[in-house]
Amino acid sequence: MLWIPGPTEVRPEILAECSRPAIGHRSPAMRELIERLDPHLPLAFGMNAGSTSLCAVHSVSASGLMEASLHGVGPRVLSVVNGAFSKRYRDMGTLMGKDVTTIDVAWGAGVDPAELDRVLTESGPFDAVTLVSNETSTGVSTPLGPIAEVLRKHPNTLLLVDLVSYIAGAPVDFDRNGIDFGFAGVQKAFALPPGIAVCAASARFMESARAQTNRGWALDPVRIIDGHVQKKTPATPCTPLYYALAKQLEDISSGVTLDAADRGKTGADAWNARFAKHERMRARMLAWADAHGLAPYPAEGFRSPTVSCIAAGALDVAAFVAGLEELGFEISNGYGDLKGLTFRVGHMGDHTEAGLERLLEACDRVIARLGSVAADA
Ligand SMILES: Cc1ncc(COP(=O)(O)O)c(C=O)c1O
Repeated sequence: MLWIPGPTEVRPEILAECSRPAIGHRSPAMRELIERLDPHLPLAFGMNAGSTSLCAVHSVSASGLMEASLHGVGPRVLSVVNGAFSKRYRDMGTLMGKDVTTIDVAWGAGVDPAELDRVLTESGPFDAVTLVSNETSTGVSTPLGPIAEVLRKHPNTLLLVDLVSYIAGAPVDFDRNGIDFGFAGVQKAFALPPGIAVCAASARFMESARAQTNRGWALDPVRIIDGHVQKKTPATPCTPLYYALAKQLEDISSGVTLDAADRGKTGADAWNARFAKHERMRARMLAWADAHGLAPYPAEGFRSPTVSCIAAGALDVAAFVAGLEELGFEISNGYGDLKGLTFRVGHMGDHTEAGLERLLEACDRVIARLGSVAADA
């Protein structure tokens, strides 16, 4: 069972959707399929009622929409780098010829809104800020409210947010948080097989994007979003995953994926109940770690609801991960330089709290076999 920080487990009902017969992507059936997504995507992005922001789906992984976001903004970009994926975002901007300034945040530390404000003020104006809401590499989640508050003071700077391991696991509040472009793959908290990605764009992002002259073709955000609005895709889409996404969004919105106590909730209430489940799973995971003398790697206040990254102390991470795999549970070693120093558990998507208890029992068994895990003094 996959408890890595994505891709995560996919329900059999969702996998079954992927085996439907192929359809023509210029057919009425495709139009109907896109129409099935549209009532639910604004709930996933937590848009305001009457929002002028637009949603779309594109047949790329999240990195494709990361690149698309940068095609829609001017040259001066400020990248907040606090892990591997925010570094990718920054590097992508540089490779695309943007004039990129970096705010380097120590891995594990929180993003400081005051520092963001300072750099925006002293080194601005910037056309856009890039931010990763949930650094899957470190388990650091950046609260979006304080970031939005800073950006409000810099109204000509667009906010581009990677929501990859965050959306469908926690509230995005797209409009309230002043996000101009947000995107994610579907293999994390949406709990689908990988291969397509979702995005949302504010009206002012669309205005900025239309004004850019070199937007390319396949990753042109205007082509992607205008296409979706017209119920069309720019190129041949991955229709099996569109079916899977439609079913999953419908199931989430109708409460089907919730535990018995929350069944019956629908619409935004059902999405909020999904987010609350992820919060409880984080609390349970961190309580388990604490009981074993292990500390979360991220600073207090920045701990992800979907990916727990735990400092391993004296625990032999490779042996721990291998021991769990023997029992049928996959978790992940630390990312990059954190390999051997941390381990990561993805408690996201359709994983249940009962399932987490089974994983933690397995963790206890492996730890009992490996001996003491007390953190190094
Ligand atoms: C936060 C974050 N951003 C971006 C990506 C890249 O996603 P993809 O590999 O689907 O392009 C990942 C992948 O794990 C991620 O966790």
